[in-house]
Amino acid sequence: MEATKAKIRTLLKERKAILLAHNYVLPEVQDVADLCGDSLELSIKAAATEAEVIVFCGVHFMAETASILSPEKTVLLPVTSAGCPMADMVTPLSLAARKAELPGVPVVTYVNSSAAVKALSDVCCTSANVIKVVRSLSEKEVLMTPDRNLAQYAASKTDKTVHLWEGYCPFHNTLTAQTALAVKAKYPGAIFMAHPECSPEVLAVADVVTSTSGMLGYAQESSADTFIVGTEVGILYPLSQQNPEKTFIPASLEMCCTDMKRIRLDDIVTCLTNLSGEVKVPEEIRLPALSAVQKMVAMK
Ligand code: 13P
Ligand code: SF4
Repeated sequence: MEATKAKIRTLLKERKAILLAHNYVLPEVQDVADLCGDSLELSIKAAATEAEVIVFCGVHFMAETASILSPEKTVLLPVTSAGCPMADMVTPLSLAARKAELPGVPVVTYVNSSAAVKALSDVCCTSANVIKVVRSLSEKEVLMTPDRNLAQYAASKTDKTVHLWEGYCPFHNTLTAQTALAVKAKYPGAIFMAHPECSPEVLAVADVVTSTSGMLGYAQESSADTFIVGTEVGILYPLSQQNPEKTFIPASLEMCCTDMKRIRLDDIVTCLTNLSGEVKVPEEIRLPALSAVQKMVAMK
């Protein structure tokens, strides 16, 4: 495995490429990345990098976002079938129909969505800046897509009337408050950190609600020594690496995103060797999506 990692580092240099990895991908992929992060951090980096090639180890919408922000760069997704089931729960057609029912209501779209859906949206957000984004709007009502849990979280933290979209993450949505409470009872004194993609009932019993990188920052700064982790299990690797003296308990092992685990080291070698797996958003979609994504990136 070390030889493959060394090969990837050499290929990255030859290709003038940068490797970005989401906090959920396989540990060995996180190890070889130039930057690991949450969706917001990765989008900011994708917009700012001087590299000619961006290898995105995450899922399809993340590579698309990089392509929207950096059209002059080659954006590669080593396994092009890595998608996000929640992103597929809203289509441009279904969104256009809902918009027609809600004239004048701005659309806030979670970054976990296709470029074509972003193109129909006023502003995008990530789990790290959703509250800031929703508060920044002058309108009293907003339509949020596709995650109903994130939308309900935003509604609970702002004075907006939020119209929901019935999308959800099939992994975060499996966690129930009953399971979370049972794990809390087993580890009294542990801090329960939950991702806003979890249901409102789970968030109601969480000590901290934040993005994946928010969890990494919180765990590092907290004086607590045990944490229950209410998000996709991939985050346990960087949490343990960065805090070897602390204990991290998964809230549920069912929260394992199949798509986030698709990319292996050999796939990265192949994609850098052949410059394969390019993700390019066509200009007629990129241009209308750009302003919504730029507003998201500006709101840290
Ligand atoms: P973060 O932006 O918090 O990293 O989450 C992305 C994601 O896909 C959560 O399921
Ligand atoms: Fe999509 Fe859920 Fe996987 Fe995140 S964890 S990429 S929201 S399916």
